[in-house]
Amino acid sequence: MQRRVVVTGASSGIGAATVRRFAERGWETVAVARRVDRLEALAAETGAQPIACDVTDEVQVARLAAEVAASGGATGLVNNAGGAWGTESVEHASNDDWRRMFEVNVIGLRSVTSALLPVLRDGARRSGSASILNVTSTAGHSAYPGGGGYNAAKFAAHAVTSVLRLELGGEPIRVMELAPGLVHTEEFTLNRLRGDAEAARKPYADVTPLQAEEVASVLVGAFEQPPHVNQDLIVLRPVAQTSVFHTHRGPLIAKGE
Ligand SMILES: NC(=O)c1ccc[n+]([C@@H]2O[C@H](COP(=O)([O-])OP(=O)(O)OC[C@H]3O[C@@H](n4cnc5c(N)ncnc54)[C@H](OP(=O)(O)O)[C@@H]3O)[C@@H](O)[C@H]2O)c1
Repeated sequence: MQRRVVVTGASSGIGAATVRRFAERGWETVAVARRVDRLEALAAETGAQPIACDVTDEVQVARLAAEVAASGGATGLVNNAGGAWGTESVEHASNDDWRRMFEVNVIGLRSVTSALLPVLRDGARRSGSASILNVTSTAGHSAYPGGGGYNAAKFAAHAVTSVLRLELGGEPIRVMELAPGLVHTEEFTLNRLRGDAEAARKPYADVTPLQAEEVASVLVGAFEQPPHVNQDLIVLRPVAQTSVFHTHRGPLIAKGE
């Protein structure tokens, strides 16, 4: 069976770069998101099959799984759709923002995984193995002030990934997690800061952040390891960011003479 991977959140940022990278490496790809125009442009560029789907809508997710099964099946799934909304404290946050973050980062991930597992099992029976990778965040491993709902959602996504790996034990399906630190994508911080473009530039000032293409390269590399190799957790940060609390601004200089 041809290597075929479903990537959610493929209309921008890390997801779009991941589809491009898989396509460059000879994989068949299925690109999933809500904005069809962007998916169609990506499809024209990469040959991906575009499927419009809101991962928080169970009816649409069931339709996604049926379309993937009918169009060639899958041996891989990247749960990348996600995002952050707001930086308010736990005390002052909005429950609507928190619900939105849980819906897409946690429930959507579970829902897509559940719907596609029979398709991935079928792929594994035909090709020998299948892979699932969830894109979480370093925010899913370290809490920080103002991280609130995003921290909680990504910690949950990390937990779900660990549970799933245990539950699929004994099957030829590896379950991986990629937790990026600071990545410069067009929309992520803009969404988090509610469209404030000036504030959204600040996290990337005087630092070399990761680019979506760099995250995609590591992600696809994990899929291309021999099928018995499971990279449980990949934490990927720019060198200048040594923790969620420590980002060096300015040039990196070796100490000494
Ligand atoms: N950028 C960073 O610094 C960073 C760091 C660590 C982790 N991450 C994580 O990496 C992933 C990708 O981030 P990014 O920076 O590439 O962000 P992005 O450019 O904002 O991309 C988010 C993607 O998710 C899709 N999406 C959002 N809600 C959806 C829904 N309900 N149904 C289907 N698709 C949905 C969006 O597409 P549509 O709007 O078209 O649906 C978009 O393609 C996210 O899970 C994010 O939390 C990002």
